[in-house]
Amino acid sequence: WRGRRVLVTGGAGFIGGHLCRRLVGLGAEVVVLDDLSTGRRDTVPRGVRLIVGSVTDPALVRKALQGTEGCFHLAAIASVPLSVSALVDCHAVNQTGTLRLIEGLRDNGGGRLVYASSSAVFGDPVALPLTMASPTRPISPYGVDKLACEAHARVAGGLYGLKSFGLRFFNVYGEGQSDDSPYSGVIALFNRKLRDGQPITVFGDGSQSRDFVYVGDVIEGLLAAWNEASVRGPVETVGTGCPTTVMDLARTIMEVHGRSVPVVHAPPREADIEHSYGKADFLARILPKPAVALRAGLARTLSISPPA
Ligand code: NAD
Ligand code: UD1
Repeated sequence: WRGRRVLVTGGAGFIGGHLCRRLVGLGAEVVVLDDLSTGRRDTVPRGVRLIVGSVTDPALVRKALQGTEGCFHLAAIASVPLSVSALVDCHAVNQTGTLRLIEGLRDNGGGRLVYASSSAVFGDPVALPLTMASPTRPISPYGVDKLACEAHARVAGGLYGLKSFGLRFFNVYGEGQSDDSPYSGVIALFNRKLRDGQPITVFGDGSQSRDFVYVGDVIEGLLAAWNEASVRGPVETVGTGCPTTVMDLARTIMEVHGRSVPVVHAPPREADIEHSYGKADFLARILPKPAVALRAGLARTLSISPPA
């Protein structure tokens, strides 16, 4: 990566911040485009140029791409419930923002695109674990937009020769994940409640399950995808193969914290997938050792988290 310039959209966010630090460590020159809607300026490492603005702004996208070899595209409104309530605003960022980048890469004379898709593209599964052969029937606007991004990237490969790679992340967690909004990820929210000694809220009966992937493994997936980007527009799932129910997650987090708080149940969320876990084939292929298991990942997350 030494001497190579690359754009990271959403680089002030949770996954983007980890990616920036890794790229800087490898010697890359990193430019970030982020509107700081959920991201934070202090997540962007020293030495990285931050352009504050939206991926929906064509002039800014052009400026951010100048001199780069392409883009890791992570900017999005990453919340499923927000995509249900703010349908068009989320679509504008999650789908149109991706189209702006594709157009920008085309006009910049090439460069590759590695982008965050989501396991939300599957919707409620017909069979588990989910693989690239599983049908895609998203049940949220967020999932529809992510699926459309995959189709656009593949089509742009044929039309403009764009080399791309999409990654369907399952539920990513780790240090630095924001916990300050009701739309934050469940692990970050539960951790904050545990730290503050407040009850945690479980939507529905908590029997719904997720595949929690440690952020460090996701970053390795992003770097591998860069090398494998192609005009065929490949897409892979980034799961661990291990499902955890939300109730089991609550219990495990309490054990790792060494304290417990009451669990309060609230009505199930709209467009909430019931069960979701992915086959670990992609991570198994690209990681030198097994993916980080939930308990170990939670311990890392807590030991590095800033005190409350
Ligand atoms: P995050 O909210 O921490 O990061 C998203 C970043 O994008 C933030 O810094 C935000 O300020 C920025 N952003 C939002 N709208 C923007 C816009 N219009 N222009 C420029 N920047 C904008 O979320 P994250 O968890 O780091 O997610 C990163 C990517 O991975 C997203 O595309 C998300 O959909 C995807 N993803 C995340 C998960 C997960 O579990 N965290 C799972 C699957 C997919
Ligand atoms: C998450 C990501 C989404 C990604 C998807 C991939 C976030 C905010 N969302 O969506 O970007 O594409 O994974 O699978 O990172 N829950 C509770 N109590 C809470 C919060 C959540 O019970 O306080 C439950 C939810 O109802 C859900 C589960 O926990 O069943 C996970 O919720 P959440 O962390 O918001 O993630 P997803 O909706 O799965």
